[in-house]
Amino acid sequence: SDYQLGEYANFMHKEIREQPEAVRRTLAGRLDERFGTARLGGLNLDPRAMRGIRRVKFIGCGSAYYAGQIGANLVEEWARLPADAEPASELRYRNPVVEEDTLYVAVSQSGETADTLAAVQELCRKGGRVIGAVNSVGSAIARACGSGVFLHAGPEVSVASTKAYTNMVVCFAMLALSLGRVRDLSVSDGARIVEALQSLPDHITAVLSGENTISEVAKEHSNAERMFFVGRVRGWPVAREGAQKLKEISYVHAEAYQAGELKHGPLALIDPAMPSVVVVPDDELLAKNIATIEQIKARGGPVIAVTNAELPEGLADSLIRVPRGEPELDPILFTVPLQLFAYHLARHLGRDIDKPRNLAKSVTVE
Ligand code: AGP
Repeated sequence: SDYQLGEYANFMHKEIREQPEAVRRTLAGRLDERFGTARLGGLNLDPRAMRGIRRVKFIGCGSAYYAGQIGANLVEEWARLPADAEPASELRYRNPVVEEDTLYVAVSQSGETADTLAAVQELCRKGGRVIGAVNSVGSAIARACGSGVFLHAGPEVSVASTKAYTNMVVCFAMLALSLGRVRDLSVSDGARIVEALQSLPDHITAVLSGENTISEVAKEHSNAERMFFVGRVRGWPVAREGAQKLKEISYVHAEAYQAGELKHGPLALIDPAMPSVVVVPDDELLAKNIATIEQIKARGGPVIAVTNAELPEGLADSLIRVPRGEPELDPILFTVPLQLFAYHLARHLGRDIDKPRNLAKSVTVE
């Protein structure tokens, strides 16, 4: 294809660095500043049909499923509709209750993932209303859904998804915003969100400008054989995606955990050889996340804090700084440094970045 490496050592690095541009592309022409909303023409839902939706369910596999989890949180926050995410590989083998006022969102970069396609077909067979959130135009999942939103991330070559993942979440933010605006979200709240979305590309550029520091932190921890990724509520899918990236390309074992659940068992694993990457947004849960770091430190565990807050001096062993934006969009911004962390750690270990062992870019097997 004409998508070339150019100055980059591998596609993953290129795709991480392209994110500001990819986000701009997916936002282009879809935001309405005046009415504080988003217009996703491909959904084919008029305001009345939008208002008829009583529940939203995101389905996808791997990172697409984690992105869906962020989407579900945004729908609950902005539209106050119950929402959740489920791996398509599970849903397809259950006998799910399919309701006609549920909007199902099938999430896929490739549009060819066998489990996701099978889940879409099963939902359609039961009369479910399914839309796609797909990157590849003309792919099997895009065709099976018939309507939806294209991610416009451009080609993604690296097995580890980065820019497509980010664009998934940006599209879910626009979906949540438009669902919110036909319900109880005010025009001024909508306008605040539109503005926050418009600032995202610059905020991502700011994260990328800290790449050298992130690379240093990754190098310092590159002898670890295992790591925890810890987050709470908004930070939880971020931790899951961070752990996923690290596992995929570095082969270091990483486990994501909800901050509040650590004390119910996994704290037993903490020792000086088990670093924890803790997601610490400056939001209403800051004090709780600081307490989590203290619990880890008290057991001798090294802490890498990813944060946009002013943490107490010396609390974390390493710091990765993130710029401040609207808290609801923190999951997007906080994922980018974790991509870079995994990337540099894997580079340091000499791994094959774009083609990690045992994995394929699109999983068309069952
Ligand atoms: C992401 O880094 C992984 N390679 C993987 O989890 C991926 O997101 C998953 O296989 C789904 O792929 P899709 O988006 O093409 O459906």
